[in-house]
Amino acid sequence: MSTYHFRSPLLWKRHSVHIRSLFHDIYIIQGDKSIVSLFSKNALSSGPVNRTLMVNVFGLPKTAAETYSKDDSGEHRRPIPGSKVPDHNRVAFLTSTSRHRFFLGRGYYSLLRRLHFSTIKRLSSLDVGCTWSAVPDLFDIFRIHLTAASIDSFTGPTLMERNPSFANDISAIKENLLPLMLGLPRFLMLGAYQARDRALEAVLDWHAWARQNSKPESVDADENEHFWGCDSFREKQTTLLEMDGFDDPRALASEDLFFLWSAQGNSIGTAFWLTLQTFRDPEILQAVRDEVGPCVKPGPDEPLMFNVDRLMCQPLLQAMFAEVLRLRTHGYWTIPKHSLCVASSTTAAMDPQFWCAGDRAGHPPVHEFFPGRFLKTNRQSKGKFFNLSGLHGHSFPFGGEPFTCPGRVYAKHENLVALATMVTMYDCEVLAWDEALVLKTRSIPGGTADPSGKVPVRLRRRKYPLGG
Ligand code: HEM
Repeated sequence: MSTYHFRSPLLWKRHSVHIRSLFHDIYIIQGDKSIVSLFSKNALSSGPVNRTLMVNVFGLPKTAAETYSKDDSGEHRRPIPGSKVPDHNRVAFLTSTSRHRFFLGRGYYSLLRRLHFSTIKRLSSLDVGCTWSAVPDLFDIFRIHLTAASIDSFTGPTLMERNPSFANDISAIKENLLPLMLGLPRFLMLGAYQARDRALEAVLDWHAWARQNSKPESVDADENEHFWGCDSFREKQTTLLEMDGFDDPRALASEDLFFLWSAQGNSIGTAFWLTLQTFRDPEILQAVRDEVGPCVKPGPDEPLMFNVDRLMCQPLLQAMFAEVLRLRTHGYWTIPKHSLCVASSTTAAMDPQFWCAGDRAGHPPVHEFFPGRFLKTNRQSKGKFFNLSGLHGHSFPFGGEPFTCPGRVYAKHENLVALATMVTMYDCEVLAWDEALVLKTRSIPGGTADPSGKVPVRLRRRKYPLGG
């Protein structure tokens, strides 16, 4: 059954489109050839969008915003020729580098380990017993509990413990992203601004607490910092403090709020779709459980743990994640010169002349969920293996150079561990109408789309974990 619908005809063209709007001229770059060509341009910069995002959505104070406005040096190590911005004020380069540092070195392995534990802990302790319980919206489980697990993995448990509404507030920012970005007045969307302010206060509170308590010996050999969670947060404070206008604690809080938010917006949605798609189809559910089962580590009487290395290599699980990204993730922002430019992945990801032709002829229509698009058969062993080759320009959910998402491996871990925990710990009956599963898309695409309506389900705790 098809649950995929996309309502904006502008996103179905094979060629790029120019829209004149009240505020900006917007270019939608789409189609595989245009996209490949766009990613090959070195002069792209996401600076102006980032500045608007940081000020309007994440409350960056004016003094720090001025540093953003003056920075025309680009995100790369080598400044754009002609730029006179002093090195210490290269805000696009410095913030981007500090964000990428979370995903490098030993600290990254600790981060993934914490993600593994916190995801299992949060998702396996839902208030669900061994008889069926009605859950009004499956999406809420991911929006609240998986977001909290991811925040815990980055900051340690303190931020969520001191500010239990943080996960909800972060998702309210995603829900209202476009109006916040356009700077609609506060009285028109009081709830959204209040959620943003609460989230900012929560980060300020955590920063103040961590600064007060952290000592050099709080960092262990694996770059875990007892108070900051990832040691990269502590390092980032030092780097950003050197920039003009960033001596205001709100500027640092605004940057970290953006970072924590960007780690959630897409990944939580894909984990939800991945799990929903699995529980809706008994054959897929069985095949997923067959791949997850051998990755369960301890026996049924001990706390659940997975052999994550093995889990990440299971062919069907990887193909399911790739197929969810193809069907549910649309669009990506960037800027050439002074025009607002949105590169849309939709046409290429949904092109029947690519996905259902040639050696893919016979595959189900593009709007159907079919992980087999990413699986090939080994001629000798006849086993299936995951395969992404030959997709150039047709599959780029994580963007392309120079703006490739640094969190893509983290996202894969988060999604597959969440799915593995859900199918191991619960049975689930999906009660939602198809209409509720239509993608909630806005006029301009931006990442993983949420479902349009609530997704009621019945959950039941499994008597024995897999392998029991
Ligand atoms: C399904 C999940 C995800 C998708 C589809 C996705 C997609 C993207 C895309 C397309 C961009 C480039 C945006 C642009 O050019 O403006 C991006 C940037 C970014 N993503 Fe992701 N992302 C995902 C998950 C994550 C996760 C889990 C994290 C963190 C753990 C993360 C952290 C970031 C950051 C920090 C940036 C900005 C990088 C910079 O400033 O240089 N993302 N993501």
